[in-house]
Amino acid sequence: MATVYIVYGSTTGNTEWVANQLEAQIKAAGHSVSKAKAADVSADGLCSGKDLVLFGCSTWGEDEIELQEDFIPLFENFSKIGAKGVKTAVFGTGDEDYKFFCGAVDAITDKLNELGSTVVGGKLKINGDPEGAKGDIKTWGDAVIAAI
Ligand SMILES: Cc1cc2nc3c(=O)[nH]c(=O)nc-3n(C[C@H](O)[C@H](O)[C@H](O)COP(=O)(O)O)c2cc1C
Repeated sequence: MATVYIVYGSTTGNTEWVANQLEAQIKAAGHSVSKAKAADVSADGLCSGKDLVLFGCSTWGEDEIELQEDFIPLFENFSKIGAKGVKTAVFGTGDEDYKFFCGAVDAITDKLNELGSTVVGGKLKINGDPEGAKGDIKTWGDAVIAAI
């Protein structure tokens, strides 16, 4: 049984909905899962003791990538999370009509790679209402579980 942590930032509830789906799926696979809003966590040692940390974040802004507001302070302190050598995975919701579709997922993934984390599962980017993407979420969740 692995210890999994899901940390997410969500303004209107879309990314939170995905986080809830993933929590249920990973628990059903027999792992221990805890989940927290980005606004409620401290960056210091966030990855400590975890076998896998999932980060979920929606994208805001128009001409540049803006992370969901609760995620910004955490992201500014990402060097303190202890990502080196830890498995992570990144998901987010967005809208394909914007210039940087799910740009937050790209920014967080790049940062984790830079910090020496092993990012697994590829990037999960969901367009529009996530309830219509249940199949994609399940497939991605399975890939992430397989990589634990
Ligand atoms: C003002 C505004 C700016 C947005 N900018 C982007 C963007 O740059 N890229 C993107 O993929 N989605 C963008 N979106 C869409 C949101 O990311 C999308 O609605 C997302 O599902 C919200 O997730 P949340 O409820 O978890 O915060 C924007 C939405 C608004 C209202």
